[in-house]
Amino acid sequence: MPTTSSLLTNVGFFDFWEVVMVGQLEQLLGQLDALRERALAELAPINTSAALEEWDVQYLGRNRGELKSLSSVMPKLTKEERPVVGQRMNAVKSVLERSLAEKREELKERELLLALESERIDVTLPGRNVPAGKMHPLSQVMLEVSEIFERMGFSIVQGPEVETDYYNFQALNIPADHPARDMQDTFWVVPGQLLLRTQTSPMQIRTMKQQQPPVRILAPGTTYRNEAIDATHEAVFHQIEGLLIDEHCTMADLKGCLERFVHELFGPERRLRFRGSYFPFTEPSAEVDISCGICDGKGCRACKYSGWLEVLGSGMVHPKVLREVGYDPKKYRGFAFGMGVERIAMLKYGIGEIRLFSGNDLRFLRQL
Ligand code: DAH
Repeated sequence: MPTTSSLLTNVGFFDFWEVVMVGQLEQLLGQLDALRERALAELAPINTSAALEEWDVQYLGRNRGELKSLSSVMPKLTKEERPVVGQRMNAVKSVLERSLAEKREELKERELLLALESERIDVTLPGRNVPAGKMHPLSQVMLEVSEIFERMGFSIVQGPEVETDYYNFQALNIPADHPARDMQDTFWVVPGQLLLRTQTSPMQIRTMKQQQPPVRILAPGTTYRNEAIDATHEAVFHQIEGLLIDEHCTMADLKGCLERFVHELFGPERRLRFRGSYFPFTEPSAEVDISCGICDGKGCRACKYSGWLEVLGSGMVHPKVLREVGYDPKKYRGFAFGMGVERIAMLKYGIGEIRLFSGNDLRFLRQL
């Protein structure tokens, strides 16, 4: 067994240091290998991106990463050792970097799968019900009637519900002592002067005073009468007024226009009947009936066994009315008509009770 001194003698002074240095080198390489094994062992179970980033900082971090710390010994190594350590260090580094990249890819895929799984949408689930409102049946009827007449070239106009005696009565050839006033139980705001309009007819006067012929307007709106309320009468109700003025307008135009309207609103199978009547602002005047849609004119309870249902009042505009607005009755003629919106809606939907429209009962309103 050689003693330490004989060893010293055998290898010489410098050799001894080399042995020591070789020991250091191996230790260093061993440390690098150990570092690699530890890093890879820790990497294996990592399953979140956050943990992976921590791992990256710990081993490969540019500032305080473990690999970086080991490389600080490089300047202390000899020229011969430096490449040996450098190579091993690069090898470890690239193994770790490759493993990191692989792990990153693996986690990305895993996290995508997890997201796909947890955010899965069951497209077969029934949708959530969004409660939708809808138009009131009277608004629907007013809109539908308006659209029919708009297609015939009529424009929609609107005017005040608080009206003067002049527009509601006098200008329409209903003077103060006229018996027709008794037919329209008026709500007075200022007795003899201001009232809640009993009809939409004042819109005829307002329109004609504002424009020259030709005139083609439709005036839907709310009307008021101080009436006893029952299944067919309301104190607050709605009317639609129509007016056409032109140079060569005849009763045939009135008939054609209203026939078109009835056929579009109620169906082409309905027949019309023009029955002579009286309104102060038209001459001649006619009430228009349509054949009963339930019995087709044969007579049933709905039409009170007459086969006919009354839908509107109409007539040729009275010369007195034309003169009142400054139109020359020798040059211009026209026709007018007026209908109750509730009445039209009742006929269209087969409803026998007018009060349902203002009753706010959703069970009724939802059906229409
Ligand atoms: N204004 C009338 C009423 O309320 C309805 C009416 C009839 C209007 C004949 C008209 C018409 O324009 O020509 O009873």
